[in-house]
Amino acid sequence: MTRGKDLLDRQLEHWQSTFVANPEMYGTDPSASGVYAIDLFRREGLTDVLELGAGQGRDTLAFLRAGFNVTALDHASDALAELDQAAMASGHGTQLTTTAHDVRQTLPVPDTSVDAVYSHMLFNMALTTPEFDHLAAEVARVLRPGGLHVYTVRHTGDAHYGAGTPHGDDMYENGGFIVHFFNRALVDRLTLGCTLLDVTEFEEGGLPRRLWRITLRRREAPQ
Ligand SMILES: C[S@@+](CC[C@H](N)C(=O)[O-])C[C@H]1O[C@@H](n2cnc3c(N)ncnc32)[C@H](O)[C@@H]1O
Repeated sequence: MTRGKDLLDRQLEHWQSTFVANPEMYGTDPSASGVYAIDLFRREGLTDVLELGAGQGRDTLAFLRAGFNVTALDHASDALAELDQAAMASGHGTQLTTTAHDVRQTLPVPDTSVDAVYSHMLFNMALTTPEFDHLAAEVARVLRPGGLHVYTVRHTGDAHYGAGTPHGDDMYENGGFIVHFFNRALVDRLTLGCTLLDVTEFEEGGLPRRLWRITLRRREAPQ
């Protein structure tokens, strides 16, 4: 078993080179979780969305088309450059702010400044459990009271769980990508300052990837 800062940092290089080699890697249509979040955020009258791990932005572009303002973070700057270009080309450039950022660091967003935080398959990247604790605290910090957090993760029922190279902490490497597979205890652990509203199972892609979509609401009262 190998794990260390260098190994986790090398994931950035792997993502960058994969995105360069595969424009539209996940396609241009929004994911099922993106469609769900747009519908939910609209019904709640939300405006400002922070997206973590936006990648090439299949969901970001759908948020923009739906009228939301989006701050999109990803550590892969090439993917964000592609997203910026697509947003400009579709006439939605002014609604989008992109920032190259590693979510293991403090989020570059003020306290209680966003209505919603969204991510699709960011929380199951190569982060350790203590790094998830920090990220969950950061999400709680930036969400306004009553705001929503929707995220998706591959879980321990996925075919890749337990396959490939183990890196500890329920992380396994397949095809150069390290995935941290979630169990239900980890979902329950990452609810700091929030109420867990829903956990829904769904599938995506050819394997298929087996995921949970998790919805939380930031509590009004101090933690
Ligand atoms: C599985 S992809 C999903 C991309 C996008 N959400 C989608 O569904 O099309 C995960 C994304 O997380 C980004 N990522 C991985 N680790 C990260 C980190 N520590 N900080 C910021 N972004 C990260 C990758 O560059 C990649 O764009």
